[in-house]
Amino acid sequence: MCGIVGYVGKKEALPVLLQGLRDLEYRGYDSAGIAVLNQGKIFRVREVGKVDNLVNKLKGKTLEGSVGIAHTRWATHGGVTEKNAHPHFGSSSLGEPEVEGKLALVHNGIIENYREIKKQLKDQNFSSETDSEVLAKLIYENYEGDLVKAVKKSLPRVRGTYGVAVMHQDNPNLIVAARLGSPLVVGMGQNEYYLASDVTPMLPYTKRVSYLDDGEVAEISTAGVKISNLKDEVVKKDITRIEWDKEQAQKNGFPSFMLKEIFDQPIVFEDAIRGRFNMQEGTAILGGLNMTEEEKRDVKRVVIVAEGTARHAGLIAKYAFERLANLPCEVDSSSEFRYRDPVVNESTLVFAISQSGETVDTLLAIREAKRKGAKVRGVVNVVGSTIARETGAGTYIHAGPELSVASTKAFTNMVTVLLLYALEFGRIKQTSPATGQRLLQALLEIPEKMHSILKQSEQIKEIAKVYAKYQSIIFIGRGVNFPVALEGALKLKEISYIHAEGMSGGELKHGPLALVSKDLPVIAVLTQDQLYEKMKSSVAEVKARGARTLIIANEGDEEVRDLADEIIYVPKTMELLEPLLNTIPLQLFAYHMAVILGKDVDRPRNLAKSVTVE
Ligand code: F6R
Repeated sequence: MCGIVGYVGKKEALPVLLQGLRDLEYRGYDSAGIAVLNQGKIFRVREVGKVDNLVNKLKGKTLEGSVGIAHTRWATHGGVTEKNAHPHFGSSSLGEPEVEGKLALVHNGIIENYREIKKQLKDQNFSSETDSEVLAKLIYENYEGDLVKAVKKSLPRVRGTYGVAVMHQDNPNLIVAARLGSPLVVGMGQNEYYLASDVTPMLPYTKRVSYLDDGEVAEISTAGVKISNLKDEVVKKDITRIEWDKEQAQKNGFPSFMLKEIFDQPIVFEDAIRGRFNMQEGTAILGGLNMTEEEKRDVKRVVIVAEGTARHAGLIAKYAFERLANLPCEVDSSSEFRYRDPVVNESTLVFAISQSGETVDTLLAIREAKRKGAKVRGVVNVVGSTIARETGAGTYIHAGPELSVASTKAFTNMVTVLLLYALEFGRIKQTSPATGQRLLQALLEIPEKMHSILKQSEQIKEIAKVYAKYQSIIFIGRGVNFPVALEGALKLKEISYIHAEGMSGGELKHGPLALVSKDLPVIAVLTQDQLYEKMKSSVAEVKARGARTLIIANEGDEEVRDLADEIIYVPKTMELLEPLLNTIPLQLFAYHMAVILGKDVDRPRNLAKSVTVE
């Protein structure tokens, strides 16, 4: 994931910026660059690979100056090359490429309509393949002596996400930063100011920070920091005092990345849906599909290939594609897909789902599907990853860096993006605008509902203490909650090493019921959907055989009390959206179990974050 650092003050900017880049290395990146403004000139150095490579390239160069911006890039538009690395110049470099820029910009995020903006620019001389250079040129073209005005004039034209920092050679002590979706923090020193994607780079210098919110623009100069919105209204910001050390800061104060990432979900969910709703038409706008209306109508079947948690997200999407779009949908483990002569052709749309974008089984499945003529699209988190590049089209889930091995926030965002795809096809095929609008409205209510579940973390911890003594646990669910049960079991086994099995409630009687006794507890996802009554019967069956039961139920549901030893209540939502909520208590349950059992939650034994071997 890209990282931004900026400095305005009295010190030499270069060492501050380089250390800042190192502090952001944990986010992952493939190239780095730096620009310093000095005596009306911007000097820039960029290099592919590690920050060390950039440092080597800087040897022998003098980049003096006390204002600068720097960036670690994780490729999105365009390959991993020096030319595509940031900072980008807004003016064409006709002379010495490292010093000719009048305006320099670093950008995190994705500008979805960059092609459209690119066509409208006067200067058609591009030195990179990036969306970010287009934004740099747009701001440069709008510049009439006031950098803040130029930024504010340009940003409303952008569709997508950004955390952006800009400097102009004629504004010697100024960085202008703005945020929509990609985080930015301003650090307040003594007549010096810091800017970064998170607080880690500024911790050695200041503990006082202000977080930019979406739609805000910060004017950071030696005279101070002024924050306003795109309507030019001044925004009064609170200053937060950070008491964390570097590692705690990377974890945003949580004891582990996994817990941080579970709690990130309401925030990153907003990133997954931002700009992707057409409320009036009751549909989604996911430009990444890259298909004409006719091509969309020609899709006869959807196939989803993925592994592990990503496959569970796919299994949920199957219900949505079938229900909303009447499209047959098959979900396969990518490792099986490739070796079983899959029947796919030109009318099949294959979605490859992957957090890392590097899972080799999924990559090979994509190649097989392409070879057979299918249309392949990616639903990927890591921008610029191999799967994102090989699919060439698709949608980023915008979950942000997921560092814990166990996948959590990527799961909810995968489900969200796939639901939006299902809705888009649904509206073309059979779903009414009213149903579409209801679904979009229900999605808007999800973050608040997620918060109300996260608030129960301590209570879930108490419940986990009761279950920590068992050797094995069964998870059951039906309909869209069947994959939720699979995901709950996977989370538990991978981080607590307790044997867990997820299954459909309907499957119990066909064998697994033989296992059930007072020594084998059952966790049931029993929210009030169309299979509620059937699920209640399944829970009654296990209860009758002495099993301890933990039930995930809807708030206000008193009927489940007789069936449950423990209950975790979740808010009600539309049935297709239930997994977005019902999975969260299971993530927290697995997390607390693992902590209680003394396991390393972020790095479970035998597992890797990205599986790049078959
Ligand atoms: C589970 C988990 C794995 C991954 C699987 C696919 O918590 O992390 O099951 O979901 O290895 O990985 P990606 O999504 O990177 O393709």
